[in-house]
Amino acid sequence: MSTLKHFIEGLPKAELHLHIEGSLEPEQMFLFAQRNKIDLPYKSVEDIRAAYEFTELQDFLDIYYQGMGVLQTEQDFYDLTWAYLEKVHAQNVIHVEIFFDPQGHTDRGIPFSTVINGIYNALIEGEKTLGISFKLIMSFLRHLSEEEGFKTLEEALPHKDKIAAVGLDSSELGHPPSKFERLYARCREEGFLSVAHAGEEGPPEYVIEALDLLKVDRLDHGNRSLEDSDLTARLSQSGIALTVCPLSNFKLAGVTDMRRHPIKTMLDKGLKATVNSDDPAYFGGYMNENYLAISEALNLSKEDLITLCRNGFEATFCTPEQRRQHLDQLENYLST
Ligand code: HPA
Ligand code: ZN
Repeated sequence: MSTLKHFIEGLPKAELHLHIEGSLEPEQMFLFAQRNKIDLPYKSVEDIRAAYEFTELQDFLDIYYQGMGVLQTEQDFYDLTWAYLEKVHAQNVIHVEIFFDPQGHTDRGIPFSTVINGIYNALIEGEKTLGISFKLIMSFLRHLSEEEGFKTLEEALPHKDKIAAVGLDSSELGHPPSKFERLYARCREEGFLSVAHAGEEGPPEYVIEALDLLKVDRLDHGNRSLEDSDLTARLSQSGIALTVCPLSNFKLAGVTDMRRHPIKTMLDKGLKATVNSDDPAYFGGYMNENYLAISEALNLSKEDLITLCRNGFEATFCTPEQRRQHLDQLENYLST
């Protein structure tokens, strides 16, 4: 096992499902709260960690939105993003496609430009000095209205060159993709690619809506697709990628035993599954910890791990040339 651990740590990896606000570690929460003179309802880092007991998605989301309240200035967003990049750089992540939740900030009076400029400038610096290429994905909060989504899109348009794709996250049940069909059509007209969280807690029908109504280019989670054999066959045939988040599923979404995590079944059924961390500060691990957890629990082979890793690079929103470069780095690692 230790050699497989070593192998995982050295693998060049792509992360395609990461909420930057979900990388806010308890220590940073204290730091930002202090410098912004915000009172936290916790006395210590241990207090915060003790609050991270979730039985479902909404438990987590309540704490996640509360936590991001400490982010106030462009420097905060820069520092948060930079800390994430340094962590994943140490884990040999060479490409990231990260979400940000603008409505979680603009609803608190933080200007859209403060948020995006802080995150984007850190990503640019990370590309220059750490060699991590990136795409930024603007996510709409699905518990908010279509109208609020359109308002956020308007705020985003002056920053269009910084945003590769749009996404859909937050409370899934009761907020099906169909609620945002017109918003996604408009985003497509503006030239954005798109993804959506679907089938994390929601039924297979939500995944079908994400494909047929939102016309997504990639699916986030998608776990519950496996309950529908026609949908599973369709996903396999289309080759659309799923950004799976093992530790997140364990903490939130009904995977009570990692030995029953569906990612191996996904591979066996020909789905293009990838490994990602979702909200690493809340779910107990970054990329390597996610790879390790499934590798151990599901007894994955080296070939399975390579497939997952290669899927990650094939599923990026990069140009064919960039994708080739990433895959070359993987092949180099495998041949040494
Ligand atoms: N699911 C839905 N919304 C989210 C998540 C998630 O895992 N993380 C941050 N927002
Ligand atoms: Zn997510």
